[in-house]
Amino acid sequence: MASMTIVAMPGDGIGKVVLPETVRLLEAAGFKADYVHGDIGWEFWCKEGNALPDRTIALLDKHKVGLFGAITSKPKEAAARELDPQLQGKGFQYFSPIVTMRQRFDLDVCIRPCKAFKGNPLNFIRKTPDGGFVEPNVDVVVFRQNTEGMYAGIEWTNPPEEVRKALATHKKFKPFAAVEGADLAVSVRVTTRAACERIAHEAFEYARKFGYKSVTVCEKPNVVRETSGMMENAAKRLAKDFPGVALWSNNIDAQMMWLTKNPEDSGVIVATNLFGDIISDGYAGLVGGLGFACSANMGKSHAVFEPTHGSAPKYEKLNPSIVNPIAMHLSGCMMLDHLGENDKATRIRNAVAAVVAEGKVRTYDMLRLKGGPDVFSQGACTTQQMTDAIIARL
Ligand code: NAI
Ligand code: MG
Repeated sequence: MASMTIVAMPGDGIGKVVLPETVRLLEAAGFKADYVHGDIGWEFWCKEGNALPDRTIALLDKHKVGLFGAITSKPKEAAARELDPQLQGKGFQYFSPIVTMRQRFDLDVCIRPCKAFKGNPLNFIRKTPDGGFVEPNVDVVVFRQNTEGMYAGIEWTNPPEEVRKALATHKKFKPFAAVEGADLAVSVRVTTRAACERIAHEAFEYARKFGYKSVTVCEKPNVVRETSGMMENAAKRLAKDFPGVALWSNNIDAQMMWLTKNPEDSGVIVATNLFGDIISDGYAGLVGGLGFACSANMGKSHAVFEPTHGSAPKYEKLNPSIVNPIAMHLSGCMMLDHLGENDKATRIRNAVAAVVAEGKVRTYDMLRLKGGPDVFSQGACTTQQMTDAIIARL
């Protein structure tokens, strides 16, 4: 059988550092695949006016599985300024290549596991009344709807007249109708029943498969009645097919408060796009933050795996590199799971767990140091040394 082909898209900044490290680790774990390089990121915006060139889309289309590092994006003015002078004024507009990728391949299910590794000095701890502390075992997996909601991109500053007219048909628009031109901005939160049902189904299926006792839907149906209501109702309908998994419903704001009160009580969480983004960052903060936060963007036919951190431009030129490759490695493990290589994924996760528990090899973030070239003299390891230590434990 021909071996698997993975589209490797390092992107910008530290994406270029951590992705090759993960490829090295996957190879050391015995995962055999061919990697084809996919161009993505700021460089291609500047040179070609497109941060996700068609040739990369074609590669993803063909090979169906992508491993992605991180990209840099900048505000509108900087995007216009840094575009090749030959291309300026020709109508090129910057679009986030990640959002484009999610929409183009309908990667509508985003999975973000937030699991504490024992011995990680960044793990959340909670004070006890006697002055001591406990370290709750956080094991939460967030299912974030990835293509709709507040990220659908339907928005205006100074909405056109037809839009204003349509809005005026709603009685709640009355107080805003007199706000003039550029003083009015509208972002539309679009939610479809099909997408809600699919993400809720995936969340329940995951809970059943991996033994989580509950799925919590985190919305705000008492206020954002239509869209949050649709999500909550979808979860209620799906719950009937999964009698072994309890359905809980918490308002997003309340859940953010309970995040630190009793994070060990939650299992799988499901939410629409923006709420899912917020809540997954919240839980990631309890288990080590960006150096540990991995994710999968899953469609029906395609999938892309990426750490949730960005390109960290301030560290991109440091050589040797200081950044933590574990978020990228754990994203690689999610790819292995997707490809049915669960044994290898488990071996890698166990090796990461062993290195973290042992505590001898720590990147600067794990030591709570301020990033910079002097972190090594304060006991931090390099990015490569962290991968080496994990490989040695495989
Ligand atoms: P960022 O995630 O790149 O960095 C924030 C801070 O987190 C860094 O300064 C660093 O202290 C820390 N950090 C990030 N990754 C780390 C790692 N692996 N190990 C240790 N520490 C790490 O986010 P920031 O600074 O807001 O954005 C930088 C660029 O990245 C921007 O251009 C932004 O648009 C882009 N970005 C891209 C994302 C993606 O590709 N998915 C996500 C977030 C931001
Ligand atoms: Mg985020």
